[in-house]
Amino acid sequence: MGWSTWNRYGCHIDEQLIRETSDMLVDHGYRDAGYSYLNLDDCWQSHERTSGGDIVIDSVAFPHGIRSVADYVHSRGLKFGIYSSAGRQTCAGRMASSGYESQDAQTYASMGVDYLKYDNCNYDEGVSARTRYEAMAKAINATERHILLSVCNWGTENTWEWAGEYGHSFRTHDDIYNDWKSIVEILNVHATVVSNSGPGNWADPDILEVGNGKLTVDESRTHFSIWAAMKAPLILGHSLNDIPKELYDIVMNRDVIAVNQDPLGLPARRITHIANDRDIWAGELANQSMVLVIINYLDKSQVFNIDVNTYGYIGSSIMAHDLWKNNKVELENTR
Ligand code: GLA
Repeated sequence: MGWSTWNRYGCHIDEQLIRETSDMLVDHGYRDAGYSYLNLDDCWQSHERTSGGDIVIDSVAFPHGIRSVADYVHSRGLKFGIYSSAGRQTCAGRMASSGYESQDAQTYASMGVDYLKYDNCNYDEGVSARTRYEAMAKAINATERHILLSVCNWGTENTWEWAGEYGHSFRTHDDIYNDWKSIVEILNVHATVVSNSGPGNWADPDILEVGNGKLTVDESRTHFSIWAAMKAPLILGHSLNDIPKELYDIVMNRDVIAVNQDPLGLPARRITHIANDRDIWAGELANQSMVLVIINYLDKSQVFNIDVNTYGYIGSSIMAHDLWKNNKVELENTR
């Protein structure tokens, strides 16, 4: 769980934004709710390397360097994430790590990096993604610093079959965009690969769009619920200083976050899908509980009959807890 610069700020980032966001992650309660990573995405680099091969930092945006920013993030009790690509340049055309994996991994470790999002742009044709990600994974391991490796290759080359050998999460789709349509597209892909997700190898449907001014409250709640139930990394992507209270309350719903952080780490799977009508996702949780996410794609309400026995539930009574209305209803199991 954490926050990333990308969805809201793109390349318009600087060290002041990172310091202020660190403060807000703490002061607005996000860190204590579990959002512990602050991830600097693309554009912290310049377009160059030094004659010794080191990546040159964008000194206009980060005049005090990345280490000082990382130190500030750490001083607020947060972890620090950074971004590069398994190619010659990042997706925004800045200097990336291909061919310099060992040198860059050492640089990232010396900067105090705890998380590396490693993208898949501008690589040399003919070298498989697997080879390129393996090179960075080995380089990171050689630093002996614990760095979470996010394999961000958008689901190419059947990522889900091998990403877990090298990294800790794998993107399943190309970029989310700020529209409900994007959520639906991602779910349709994610549904087919999410069963490969689990502890140490999390399927990543991308950074959240809650609070970025487009999704309605219902769409935001649905987006957050299904990301939580799929055990997706919950990486916030909004500006922390201007989110409306009703959207803040969505990403801070402790019960929904607890589903996401459930110790079993089993992703909910799509059980029913009727395009443009409904989805039902179900997942096993610890303590003989299960999570259900019901998505109503219509613009009007629907009544759903759900037989939880078909999802493996065997108890004689059912305590149903609506995590959004926060009410609990005890039902008899009439099977
Ligand atoms: C790719 C990634 C995005 C973001 C941008 C940065 O498109 O998928 O999440 O990191 O690059 O340029």
